[in-house]
Amino acid sequence: MSTLRETFLKTRNDIKSQKVSISDNIIYRLLINAEGMNSFTELITNFDKTLANPHCFERNLAKVLEGQPLQYVLGEAPFIDLDLYVNSNVLIPRPETEGLVMLVQKLISDNSLNHDTIADVCTGSGCIALYMKYKYPNSRIIATDLYEDALAVARSNSERHKLFVDFMKGDKLQPILESNIKLDVLISNPPYVENQDDIEPIVKNYEPMYAVYSEDGLAFYKEYFKNYKKIMNKKFVMAFEINYDQKESLTKLIGKYFKDEDTSFLFLKDIYDKYRYLIITGGYDVKYFEI
Ligand SMILES: C[S@@+](CC[C@H](N)C(=O)[O-])C[C@H]1O[C@@H](n2cnc3c(N)ncnc32)[C@H](O)[C@@H]1O
Repeated sequence: MSTLRETFLKTRNDIKSQKVSISDNIIYRLLINAEGMNSFTELITNFDKTLANPHCFERNLAKVLEGQPLQYVLGEAPFIDLDLYVNSNVLIPRPETEGLVMLVQKLISDNSLNHDTIADVCTGSGCIALYMKYKYPNSRIIATDLYEDALAVARSNSERHKLFVDFMKGDKLQPILESNIKLDVLISNPPYVENQDDIEPIVKNYEPMYAVYSEDGLAFYKEYFKNYKKIMNKKFVMAFEINYDQKESLTKLIGKYFKDEDTSFLFLKDIYDKYRYLIITGGYDVKYFEI
C-alpha cells in the first residue's frame, strides 16, 4: 500500500526509462482522476494518504505510456469554462476552436448582432453548441452531426451541464434545410484536412478520421455557401474554422457564391499565427477586430 506521494515519486522515477515522456502534471492528473478528486489542491492536501485505487491509476498510466491522448484516457477535456466528457468517437476540442467561439461571442457583443437562433454544424463533443448555450441561455441552439456515436457524447455533455440544445442527425446542412429553420448565426468546425500527411500520428492513431479528414477539404464550406440564402436570416453571421492553407481557395469560393453588396468577410489568425477563422456577415456594418 503506497501513499499518493510515494506513488507519484515512484512513477516519476520509473518512467525515465520509457520512450514516451510524461510530465509531472500528467501524473498529478492521473492521480486526481483515479482518486475521484476535484482539484490539484485536494490532491496535495491528501498527498500522504494511501492511494485507494492503484489499479485505476496503473491502468490509465499504461494507456498514456502507450501513447493514447490523456483526454481519452481520463474521459475529459476542457473547453473554456466547461469540462466536457470525450471518448474516441469525437475529436478532442482544440484551443483553436475555443478561439473561434470567443471570437464569435466578441463579434456578437461588440456589434449587438442577432443571436436568437444559432447552429453548430458538425458538433462532435458539442463543445461549440454547449458553450453558446452557456453564454446565451435564451437563444435556440441547434447542434448537428452525421454520426450517432458523436451525438451521444454531445448529449451526455448537454445533460452534464444542464445546457439543453436541439440535437439533429444528418449530413452537413441537411437537418437544417429539412426543418426550414432560419439562423442568425452558423458556426462550424467541419472536417477540413485534405492532405493526410498534415495529420499528426497521434491524431491518426486515436482520433476519428471522419472528424478530421475530408477528401475535398472545401466540401463543407461549398455546401454552406451554396445554401446560405436558404438557411440564414437576412442579417447573419457565419463563422468557420478553416485549415491554415485554405484562405486563397475560400476567397475564390466566396467570390462565386456571395454576390450581395452587404456581405463582407474576413480571415483571422489563431494563437499560432495561422489563418484559422473565416467570418462572413450579411446585412450588418460590423466592426471587425484582430484577436
Ligand atoms: C472537426 S470535428 C469538430 C467537432 C467539434 N465541433 C469541435 O470543434 O471539436 C468535425 C465533426 O464533423 C462530423 N462530421 C463528419 N462528416 C460529417 C457530415 N457529412 N455531416 C455532418 N457532420 C459530419 C464529425 O462526426 C465530427 O464530429
